[in-house]
Amino acid sequence: MQFHNCVIRISAVAGKEAEAGGAGVFRGRGAFRLAQWSGRVDERGMQEEPVRTLILGGGGREHALYLACKASPLCGGVVVAPGNGGIPAGDCRPVDLESVAAMVNCARQAHAGLVIVGPEAPLALGVADALRSEGFAVYGPDEAGARLEASKAHCKAFLDRHGIPTAAYERFTEAEAALAHLKDGTGPVVVKASGLAAGKGVYVCADRAEAEAAVREIMVDRVFGTSGEEVVFEECLEGPEVSIMVMVSGTGYVCLPPSQDHKRAGEGDTGPNTGGMGAYAPAAVVTPELKEVIDQTIVAPSVAGLARDGLDYRGTLYIGLMLTAEGPKVLEFNVRFGDPECQVLLPLCAHDPLDLMLRCARGENLPAEVVARGETAAVIVVAAKGYPGPYAKGEAIRLPPDVPAKVHIVHAGTRRGGDGALLSTGGRVLGVVARAPDLARATSDAYAVCDRIDWPGKVFRRDIGWRQLQAER
Ligand SMILES: Nc1ncnc2c1ncn2[C@@H]1O[C@H](COP(=O)(O)OP(=O)(O)O)[C@@H](O)[C@H]1O
Ligand SMILES: [Mg+2]
Repeated sequence: MQFHNCVIRISAVAGKEAEAGGAGVFRGRGAFRLAQWSGRVDERGMQEEPVRTLILGGGGREHALYLACKASPLCGGVVVAPGNGGIPAGDCRPVDLESVAAMVNCARQAHAGLVIVGPEAPLALGVADALRSEGFAVYGPDEAGARLEASKAHCKAFLDRHGIPTAAYERFTEAEAALAHLKDGTGPVVVKASGLAAGKGVYVCADRAEAEAAVREIMVDRVFGTSGEEVVFEECLEGPEVSIMVMVSGTGYVCLPPSQDHKRAGEGDTGPNTGGMGAYAPAAVVTPELKEVIDQTIVAPSVAGLARDGLDYRGTLYIGLMLTAEGPKVLEFNVRFGDPECQVLLPLCAHDPLDLMLRCARGENLPAEVVARGETAAVIVVAAKGYPGPYAKGEAIRLPPDVPAKVHIVHAGTRRGGDGALLSTGGRVLGVVARAPDLARATSDAYAVCDRIDWPGKVFRRDIGWRQLQAER
């Protein structure tokens, strides 16, 4: 009886989403997925009270989180602050993401049973600490945990301390000492601004002259402000890159499927860096054997290290990896879901993501395995012409009135005009997400919808997933 309640609820929600703009994310999943998602009902023999969720953020990641929460049998309402044009206006709240007090106030007003923090900056400000001290359940680490992303130097020290494979490194807080160190060596080196730099603070330098120029930009010109008070030099690693997002519940954890993203604006992974032009999962380069190695040498020791350092980490630990000839090594940690990786990972979850985030936030047990077998998902980011350089805003966009069952559109940089018309407001504007039995089908289904988006100013990469597609051929 309880189980039937869940099914009815999900269908009703999915119907509403479809009306709200062709974004019925979990339509057509079928009874199998619904039965899996009702795991919490089975396990406890009773239905959990519906949960009111507040999601902080307003990009594609937060829209994807919104859709996943809305589709959950546990959902008792979701609001997103500030949200975007893909989310019904009634579910959006204004908020200043730079003010901890404003975010806590927003959670109070929303009577939130769970707060999910989307981006890293509010976590680095300590929003999770403030919310927890007021009794809110929060998905996202405290400030001390968020330092793993907010300070690359701190992250490297953590990796060293816990014996986790990573590139050899040095850290400097004085430009002179950093420049002197560079003179002692030759060859390639990676120079990183230690603080948050919106994905722009890393210079992979072919030689010492390039590295010197990077140090001057970061430490002398201060192009990243105080994020450049410290630099990290790293040994230059080589190999394919892959990311693993781990949902952590204190000492327990569960891994989402490995994913790969495309950071460069241009096809063939050329041109300037962006927030991410597309992603797919699972990344086939991570074979089951390699996944085992990553788990043993990296994921398990990282989660154990968090606890050993006295951190009660509750949220996503995003592990960026390079698969080197010597084995997988950590490039960086992020402390939240990747964007756009989140858009493909949530639909691949064989267990209700809201239930997982609640369990993490409450420090409860997690299922051992949540990866759906036999499906691949891809997201194509549709951006404004000119991005990541200057681009036009306020352009009208018309979405296709209907999209196939396993395709949906996530909004990132959109808002609604006074008449309800959809307008662009950012560089990365939409994400078209498709699920299919293989990557070739997922990308072609997504591209078919990209082509039908009526917006003359749109640009998107045509080659998302090219490495894996080439390997599959
Ligand atoms: N030690 C390294 N060796 C080779 N390439 C690196 C190394 N560290 C980072 N990179 C490259 O730079 C990119 C960005 O570095 P990362 O540490 O992930 O910083 P962020 O994502 O914060 O910009 C990586 O995705 C990778 O391509
Ligand atoms: Mg990175």
